[in-house]
Amino acid sequence: MKDYYNNKQALLSEIINKAENERILNKEEIIALLNSDGNLLCESADKIRKKYKGDFVHLRGLIEFSNICRCNCFYCGLRAENKKLDRYRLKENEILQCVKFAVNSGYKTVVLQSGEDLYWTSEKLCTLIKEIKKHDIAVTLSIGERSFEEYQAYKNAGADRFLLRIETTDKNLYKHLHPDMSFENRIQCLKNLKKLGYETGTGCLVGLPNQTIESLADDIIFFKELDADMVGIGPLIPHPDTPLANANKDNFDMALKVMAIVRLLMPDINIPATTAMESIRQNGRIIALNSGANVVMPNMTQGEYRKKYEIYPNKICINDSPEKCINCIKSKIESIGRKISETKGYRKDAR
Ligand code: 5AD
Ligand code: SF4
Ligand code: FES
Repeated sequence: MKDYYNNKQALLSEIINKAENERILNKEEIIALLNSDGNLLCESADKIRKKYKGDFVHLRGLIEFSNICRCNCFYCGLRAENKKLDRYRLKENEILQCVKFAVNSGYKTVVLQSGEDLYWTSEKLCTLIKEIKKHDIAVTLSIGERSFEEYQAYKNAGADRFLLRIETTDKNLYKHLHPDMSFENRIQCLKNLKKLGYETGTGCLVGLPNQTIESLADDIIFFKELDADMVGIGPLIPHPDTPLANANKDNFDMALKVMAIVRLLMPDINIPATTAMESIRQNGRIIALNSGANVVMPNMTQGEYRKKYEIYPNKICINDSPEKCINCIKSKIESIGRKISETKGYRKDAR
């Protein structure tokens, strides 16, 4: 038994050394790391994060500007068929107020996130982006699938980055969970974003029903093949008003391992400690920051709207103000000896 344990540890060390030195692992090696307890892996991811990204943490101010969505993703509380949710759409001046707050608080990036809300035409979004770009900050969009031409228009208006998670690379699972969407189109959108010169973020959900360890390994390989600039990993948190209400809740550890492997294989990218991680594990973001992450996305949404952006239940900070969140997260980051970055934090900025 002891020999077996020692051999297993030796094999894990060998795989981790290979990842650290060569930045490439085959699927079997990734699976072995996903099946490990994760301790050695997270330690190594923390070391690689420090070497390539330094101790700076980039804050991205998240503005949830509409919870209206035309899609029906099986896992998400914002899905169109969830009639229990009270819908809202911020006005342009409300969004700009959030942006001003962000700028005054020292944020160098705002993330505009919404459901797939077609009220926001290309024209309206471009006007908004141009207005925001008058402040010297980076703009990230997280608004779902649009055409090449629309992505191009936002880019021309000044958008810098785009977040679009692939959610899962298991094609059958993707089709099952997204009844009215196309896996091929999602891949195409990601390729279009890269081609247009966006810093492109993607990522996956961990803990979907019928998702296998093999398919998580494929997700990691996909991020690397796409050469994603950012990768966000979210543990699934089952939402009671969705078809996945009864899915497994205990997805933190696996999500953390997926994230740590991404850091080993893509040492210079930006990796957020996701809000979902903190929502299911106390200090989840700090644990993530100590396991490879270098970005946090504090919520900047004001007042009543926060509660209504209920992608999943028990989301942290729904009763807190933007002021409270920024102070809270800053002190947590400093408490682990890390510093708040004062740059826009592009991938190529290295630190
Ligand atoms: N649990 C965790 N994350 C979720 N998302 C959607 N629903 C859930 C859920 N129930 C994630 C998706 C999406 C991001 C904005 O939120 O991965 O891309
Ligand atoms: Fe809409 Fe995004 Fe939720 Fe899917 S995950 S239902 S696209 S908000
Ligand atoms: Fe919102 Fe801590 S980040 S209260």
